[in-house]
Amino acid sequence: MFPFPLLNIFVVASKVKEEDSKYDPALYQRGDLLEVPRTLFTHFGIYLGDNRVAHFIPDILPVVSKNKSAIARMVTNSRLLLGVIAKAGSIRVDSVADFAYGSEIIVNHMDQVCSQPALHGDEVARRAEKLLGSIAYSLLWHNCEHYVMHCRYGMAISYQTYQFCTTVRKIVCSRMSAFLTALCGITVMLFLDSVTPLTTIPTMLISFTIWMAS
Ligand SMILES: *[C@@H]1O[C@H](CO)[C@@H](O)[C@H](O)[C@H]1NC(C)=O
Repeated sequence: MFPFPLLNIFVVASKVKEEDSKYDPALYQRGDLLEVPRTLFTHFGIYLGDNRVAHFIPDILPVVSKNKSAIARMVTNSRLLLGVIAKAGSIRVDSVADFAYGSEIIVNHMDQVCSQPALHGDEVARRAEKLLGSIAYSLLWHNCEHYVMHCRYGMAISYQTYQFCTTVRKIVCSRMSAFLTALCGITVMLFLDSVTPLTTIPTMLISFTIWMAS
């Protein structure tokens, strides 16, 4: 299981340059949680203001080079892929366009599905800035969203968080599962005698919310 859409990035990469102008940093506020949906996975970042996004991304270059200006450039596909293989990555700052990599950006979508309320925007951004720099990717191997979850909701990196995040990701990232859950709820309501509002209504509401939010 890779936290990045390996199949999709080659297609997306070719679009990056021509779509730079489609991102308007004025749409985002400091501390916003930005999500870039891809076919199977979601990439997360925290908006810091001034067209800067802090995000955690696999990258081989800091492992093999000390050239800071080269490292600071946009993470290319080969850097990303080798970073994934080497389990090396860093929390870094990029422009909105470099972060989004050609995809459409969704703002603060997690707020609707996370059990924790979001922290104040400035606090979120300060937490994000505090963690800038290299970090072993293996720490966040299956949960690249840990970083932003910690920043925005104040959740510590723990097994429990991992379970929570994995569950959230699985649910949120799959429209089909939301659809099937809703379908099951309807089926249960229509065809079983044991229609108890206490169980079916929450099921329906949750399914509907996830469906709308995803
Ligand atoms: C560092 O990287 C930059 C940009 O890729 C390049 O222009 C420069 O020559 C490199 N410097 C060294 C010392 O390799």
